[in-house]
Amino acid sequence: MSDAVTMDKIVSLSRRRGFVFPSSEIYGGMGSTFDFGHYGVLMKNNIRELWFEAMVRNRDDIVAIDSAVILHPKVWEASGHVAGFTDPLIDCRTCKLRFRADKLEDSNCGLKPSKHPGETPECDLTEPRRFNLMFETTVGALQEEGSRAFLRPETAQGIFINFKNMLQIARRKPPFGIAQIGKSFRNEITPGNFLFRVREFEQMEMEFFVPPDEAEKWYRYWIDERLNWYRRYGLRDSKLRVREHGPEERSHYSQGTSDIEYEYPIGWSELEGIANRGDFDLTQHTEYSTTKLEYVGQDSERYVPYVIEPAVSIERIMVALLVDAYDEEVVGERERTVLRLHPKMAPVTAAILPLIGKSDDMVAKARSLYEDLRRRHSVEYDDSGAIGRRYRRQDEIGTPWAFTVDEQTLADDTVTVRDRDSLAQERIAIPEVRDWLDDALERDWKSPKGS
Ligand code: GAP
Repeated sequence: MSDAVTMDKIVSLSRRRGFVFPSSEIYGGMGSTFDFGHYGVLMKNNIRELWFEAMVRNRDDIVAIDSAVILHPKVWEASGHVAGFTDPLIDCRTCKLRFRADKLEDSNCGLKPSKHPGETPECDLTEPRRFNLMFETTVGALQEEGSRAFLRPETAQGIFINFKNMLQIARRKPPFGIAQIGKSFRNEITPGNFLFRVREFEQMEMEFFVPPDEAEKWYRYWIDERLNWYRRYGLRDSKLRVREHGPEERSHYSQGTSDIEYEYPIGWSELEGIANRGDFDLTQHTEYSTTKLEYVGQDSERYVPYVIEPAVSIERIMVALLVDAYDEEVVGERERTVLRLHPKMAPVTAAILPLIGKSDDMVAKARSLYEDLRRRHSVEYDDSGAIGRRYRRQDEIGTPWAFTVDEQTLADDTVTVRDRDSLAQERIAIPEVRDWLDDALERDWKSPKGS
């Protein structure tokens, strides 16, 4: 097994197999913006579903919310985003390119790409200016004073402003959490590295409200929980680490932040952030809205809870899963590319293949098994082309199992099941396939690429 994964290989496979396409391609493309194809959608659904299962469905102390994308503009004043959600920018008057002042060493000069901006005599850089990352829009037909609004740059604020509503319906006392999944938008200056940094992405955030004196304990708890979630879904231990931010690196609201980092082909980078936001957000919204956002207990106990927040995007998880799963190997004389994805993350759980696509009997058997399995699983039927090519296509989209209907099936009602990773084949009776698949999905899974 090789580990020569590059971002180019991931981009090319994603495109070839219909996971992700560059957006607006027929109009010449829209840099760093992507559209998801069929397998990309299926994989995103799995990531979303498994996050929701761990964060909401399997817990008694977390409820869900789906707030609006365009919120009252004052929300972003209170949150500090209008004043503080900025990057320092530098323009080059010679090559007309724009750079992040704090990332010059990661950028390339427009005239001499082997140099960094400012390193050639021709470079003529401006002083840094602050640039706000929020996308602005206008609400209503008239562009008049007061109609200016923003697309949300994080889902978190939709949770804080609903704290009072949610506290009532959830009938909970801290510690308890509110989780949200939805699109966020940032006018990133230096988007790139495929889906890693894009201008619109789907965030999965959970705000966990706790008594202030328990904040440190819950902060550590959520770092462990989230790290274990990545391990459970197959990311290799050697590619994961936790990095604690120094005080100078933290966001304006944070009392402590740790990144769960993954070793992407671009190096160790943030996959998910876990922050102790203190009482910053509830206090700010109380001040700006004049609605008291606090917890009042039965024996007149009253306090503003602290907030622990695990926050990640589906896009960053998807890149990490694809990178971790990508493999090339030679089998017999043939090279194959295979995505060794956790079976629950794979877009297609099983393929159902008649060995001979022109055999009416095999097709009928395979279609009947397919109709049975599709009611509960993401399965795919394919009868076109040579069986070897069909297997390789399934390997490339990461399908863990293929059930093949052959001559013997017609005699004894059994099929072969082929394992994507080991290539081992066994025979099972058709009436047992459904249970076999249910059991296989529940087995512990470790990446065959090692730890
Ligand atoms: N509410 C806190 C917050 O938004 P953040 O560190 O700015 O914190 C949280 O973002 C997570 O959202 C990141 O860890 C990353 O997974 C994801 N994310 C942020 N910006 C992104 C971008 N431009 N493209 C893709 N994912 C992004």
